[in-house]
Amino acid sequence: MKSLTIQGAKILATGSAVPHVVLNNDQISQIVQTSDEWIFNRTGIKERRLLTGSNQSVADLAVIASMKALDKISMDPSEIDLIILATSSPNDLFGTASQIQSSIGAFNAVAFDLTAACSGFVLGLVTASQFLKNGSYSNILVIGADVLSKWIDWSDRSTCILFGDAAGAAILQSCSKDDNSILNFQLNTDGQYANHLSIPYKERVNSHPVLKLHQGSFNYISMNGKEVYKFAVSQVPLSILQCLNSLNMSVNDIDWLLLHQANERILKAVAEKLSIHSNKIISNLSKYGNTSAASIPLALDEALKENKISDNDIIVIAGFGAGLTWGTVIVRWKSF
Ligand code: COA
Repeated sequence: MKSLTIQGAKILATGSAVPHVVLNNDQISQIVQTSDEWIFNRTGIKERRLLTGSNQSVADLAVIASMKALDKISMDPSEIDLIILATSSPNDLFGTASQIQSSIGAFNAVAFDLTAACSGFVLGLVTASQFLKNGSYSNILVIGADVLSKWIDWSDRSTCILFGDAAGAAILQSCSKDDNSILNFQLNTDGQYANHLSIPYKERVNSHPVLKLHQGSFNYISMNGKEVYKFAVSQVPLSILQCLNSLNMSVNDIDWLLLHQANERILKAVAEKLSIHSNKIISNLSKYGNTSAASIPLALDEALKENKISDNDIIVIAGFGAGLTWGTVIVRWKSF
């Protein structure tokens, strides 16, 4: 989709946070029938981080990631106009973003949650860039954070091996059209396949006999791994190509491929389909597993810390996951 750019949007700083507790593949083999070899060969994951301890929530990780991003540019939290928290594991179904607003002291910011599973950070970036480009806001904090360990059936070996907990944050700012670094985006949803990956709500029958109400609670993550794999490998390259085409760019212009960190085999298959050399793939999932909405900002933050990304590099960011949702954002990196 072509965005109407009145002014530009740039990424000023990033930050991330992971819990201290590490669960490696050998340890998971003591919980379910699996092995380090099976997990690593099928997914590329070696270990993941888990948020343990009582009263710890996605908000705690999101606050640390946000403060790191703010500290990097010595920005006063009161300068933030909007906070978008992309998460599917809030600690309050009415929204967690407002807790973060208060914890970091961003008292001038509007704050809301955005639920789009593993595509959440991409949708958050695109949403933020619209507010910046149309002049509504100047500074926006976009956070991708998830603690899916709280929603996993730890006796289901087909899902519990995949996920980990983390948060990543990015501060975006409006700028002149010449400095614009969010070049284009392409987004998709196909609800026909929502049941391939979900945390379904399950009703108890007639839970209030007088009112005849049907109340219930959420189940654990349910996933058809094979279908999700096929969907990602077939649709993500198409989204990237469409986004590049509308900018008159080609795969040769790509410096970095930053995909949602779901599975190393998915990253490689997408790169192969696009004939992108594997040394352009940003990957850290061996250390963290699939951290859902956090995976892209966490990987971006680490790549920046490692000085991988240079000024004017083209980063193709693509997210995909439950919904089903998927999409691409093309960024020209600018160092500030
Ligand atoms: N350890 C050992 N064996 C396992 C296992 C585990 N953790 N999980 C499944 N198996 C077994 C299955 O029971 C099956 O055994 P069977 O042949 O005797 O029935 C066999 O391994 C193959 O299972 P299958 O589900 O076909 O494996 P797969 O090759 O599709 O790999 C995934 C499973 C989950 C790794 C893979 O489908 C995948 O990565 N899908 C994408 C998931 C994803 O990224 N989701 C998030 C998107 S945001």
